[in-house]
Amino acid sequence: MTTAIIGIGNIGGALARHFVGADEPVVLAAKDEAKAEALANELGPHARAESVEGAIAAADVVVFAVWLDTMKELIAKDARLLDDKVVVDPSNPLGFDENGQMIRTLPDDQSSGSVVAALLPGSAHYVKAFGTLQADSLANGANRKPRQAVLFYATDDDAAASTIEQLIRAVGFDPLKVGGVAAAGRIEMPGGDLHQFGLNGELLDLDQARAAVASTGEPA
Ligand SMILES: NC(=O)c1ccc[n+]([C@@H]2O[C@H](COP(=O)([O-])OP(=O)(O)OC[C@H]3O[C@@H](n4cnc5c(N)ncnc54)[C@H](OP(=O)(O)O)[C@@H]3O)[C@@H](O)[C@H]2O)c1
Repeated sequence: MTTAIIGIGNIGGALARHFVGADEPVVLAAKDEAKAEALANELGPHARAESVEGAIAAADVVVFAVWLDTMKELIAKDARLLDDKVVVDPSNPLGFDENGQMIRTLPDDQSSGSVVAALLPGSAHYVKAFGTLQADSLANGANRKPRQAVLFYATDDDAAASTIEQLIRAVGFDPLKVGGVAAAGRIEMPGGDLHQFGLNGELLDLDQARAAVASTGEPA
């Protein structure tokens, strides 16, 4: 299985390192192709760089580790390339105002997951994942001992669920489904009760995470 990581900043860069560390092949893309090239060279033979379109075409799984507005643009441009792919969305409904301040870009009752899922072709397999922790916790929280930390995900799609479970395990976390796309807001910030922010910065183990999922919202 080859994974395209579109965007290699805080989240995409951490994921690229985890994937390569787990011998999972990645194709990296960024706005600046030289940055993707440099990271691929640093990470070695399991990583290579491509244009956004080239990376999507080469992959079975596409992680859009970009800001929500960028993701909307890229999906609009490359929708046909996403047919039959597993599409992984770590985004929060956040952007920046004219002063560079981070702001919520969607109404409180709308998740970025619901927006992104609705933009994809019907044959794509959508899953919200890899955005439930802050980037430094994602980078440093893998293979925690004695109990692994959980990464939550949300999807309505069985193929996407089994793929993301495999990838989350490969990178050293325990996967736990919070529900369908309707539950995606629970693992986004601001406002999600199961995002690391909503959990006061804590990383949960599987027992803690199951209890937290059951405490409100829809069952897994
Ligand atoms: N940071 C966190 O702690 C965190 C936690 C959870 C979820 N998230 C979510 O994860 C997503 C990424 O956040 P981040 O902090 O990793 O962002 P970031 O560090 O700003 O990185 C953004 C990446 O997107 C790339 N990009 C921008 N425009 C592009 C385009 N048109 N085509 C291809 N690539 C493009 C950038 O490439 P260049 O460098 O070449 O411009 C960069 O590699 C966001 O949706 C965010 O809400 C972030």
